[in-house]
Amino acid sequence: MSRILVLYGTTDGHTAKVARAFREQLALGGHQVDLVDAASGGPDATGYDAVAVAASVHASGYQREVIQWVSANLGVLNRVPTIFLSVCLGVLQHDPKVDRDLQDLIASFQRATGWLPSQTRLIAGALLYTQYSFVKRLMMRGIARKAGGDTDTSRDYEYTDWDELRQIANTFAGQLNGGRLSQSA
Ligand SMILES: Cc1cc2nc3c(=O)[nH]c(=O)nc-3n(C[C@H](O)[C@H](O)[C@H](O)COP(=O)(O)O)c2cc1C
Repeated sequence: MSRILVLYGTTDGHTAKVARAFREQLALGGHQVDLVDAASGGPDATGYDAVAVAASVHASGYQREVIQWVSANLGVLNRVPTIFLSVCLGVLQHDPKVDRDLQDLIASFQRATGWLPSQTRLIAGALLYTQYSFVKRLMMRGIARKAGGDTDTSRDYEYTDWDELRQIANTFAGQLNGGRLSQSA
């Protein structure tokens, strides 16, 4: 059994849901898993055998609290197996330019923090129209329309593939048992 930390940053709440599902799947594998919102400050990562960090892309950046926490815990993060879950909507577009931008964003996050996650995965997020302010709803509908996405603002859209997420959690846990993970992005 490993002691695992799942730390997340969320703006509208969906990445919290992703992190919860990830935590639940790891716990099903018999691991002791702590789930922490980076907005609460986050714990010292010392003592954890592995760490998963989830953050969402908002106007080309991740939550500041996640960047701060990762930077402050760099020593541990670069020593134990880790995974970075980058939650976004751009991944749904299957557009090489958007894909490059998302990879650039991950690279600048890694440069800013100095963290080289053992694995990085892009996770499709959600369009939570009913929870946005009026202005944000209009803005997101405009972006979605341009990208060929969903524009009915009377409802929310959740694009996360939960089965795939659970699979990612299982693979991560499996690699923990097998020793160190290899670097990949
Ligand atoms: C104001 C705003 C800006 C966003 N900017 C981007 C972006 O630049 N690229 C992208 O791929 N997704 C973008 N998204 C999509 C979010 O990453 C997605 O909605 C995610 O599920 C948000 O997670 P959260 O609910 O945990 O904040 C944006 C969403 C909002 C509301």
